[in-house]
Amino acid sequence: MTLLKEPDRHDGIAILGTRARIELAHSPTPLVRLNRLSDRLDGPDIWIKRDDCTGLAGGGNKARKLEYLMAAALEANADTIISAGAIQSNHVRQVAAASAYLGLRCIVVLTDTVRGRGEAYFKNGNYLLDQILGAEIHLVSAETDSSREMEAIAERVRSDGGRPSVIPVGGSNPIGTLGYVRGFFELQTQLDECGMSADWIVLPTGSGGTQAGLLVGAMLCNWNGEILGVSVGAEHARQYEKVRDLIPSTAALVEADFAVFDKSKVLVDDGLVGAGYGEPDGRTIEAIELLARTEGILLDPVYSGKAMAGLIEAVRSDRFRSGQNVIFLHTGGSQALGAYPEYFSQTG
Ligand SMILES: Cc1ncc(COP(=O)(O)O)c(C=O)c1O
Repeated sequence: MTLLKEPDRHDGIAILGTRARIELAHSPTPLVRLNRLSDRLDGPDIWIKRDDCTGLAGGGNKARKLEYLMAAALEANADTIISAGAIQSNHVRQVAAASAYLGLRCIVVLTDTVRGRGEAYFKNGNYLLDQILGAEIHLVSAETDSSREMEAIAERVRSDGGRPSVIPVGGSNPIGTLGYVRGFFELQTQLDECGMSADWIVLPTGSGGTQAGLLVGAMLCNWNGEILGVSVGAEHARQYEKVRDLIPSTAALVEADFAVFDKSKVLVDDGLVGAGYGEPDGRTIEAIELLARTEGILLDPVYSGKAMAGLIEAVRSDRFRSGQNVIFLHTGGSQALGAYPEYFSQTG
């Protein structure tokens, strides 16, 4: 397997050159205008960056993070990957797929955190795909500390002669976050190629690495638009901290001068959290159906649906205005739709 240590350049800035990356994501992902949605909302020009098309068992944002995280594991000579997430975690599904692709054993801790779910939640969607992908699943209760559980598993693997590597929940450590520094460069290159400027990027934000990586990339490119993270679970102060705290350590990895970073650039909207993580409300379901029926693109009830609902609210409240270009980062997740049939089934 070839580990790439390429000097990644944008606007003459050499970065990421010392970090190993392994090609896992199908990229560049398409950047396209959402014509019918833009017409329907009658506000800004809305574009979509299709990171739901990155591959690894269905695509999603974790593929970019895993390019760095799996390369680091390979460099450490790991033979077993351990990670964790909610029962319908997309991150875990993509970890399982990357492990299979690289011939590594994969053990995952799935936490039963979402309240009030039906039978399908425990059978279908990402949970089913994890099993098909050959991940060894440890189901634990909401009270269990998944980081400790992963360490305990790693210890057992070590004592059996294995070489484990633990990837944190969501892949959001500084190394994983590099994936979206690079992701921002890719987007900036596409914008340059079509002579377009963008005013906003909107995305769902959970463990925070995707938004933090974009912010570091934007800082390196001197981009002057705004990046709005729509929180999928945490209230504003907590989500802001998660994103902000990843920025200095990620910037340090690319030798960026963090002193110049303006913290007011970390924008979080927690208005779509609703009852909590994994619990969509009517606005999220409306957003999923609207994008599906205007553009034929599937979102999900946990992440991208909430983010699209946030975008729609920002148009309706005039935060995003006519004449602006708004880019929706589609981070994937539609593999979880089958776990939420009660919200969509027309036959009850
Ligand atoms: C589909 C999808 N979108 C967005 C996110 C959030 O990304 P991050 O954890 O980097 O904030 C996740 C995280 O699991 C995800 O699966």
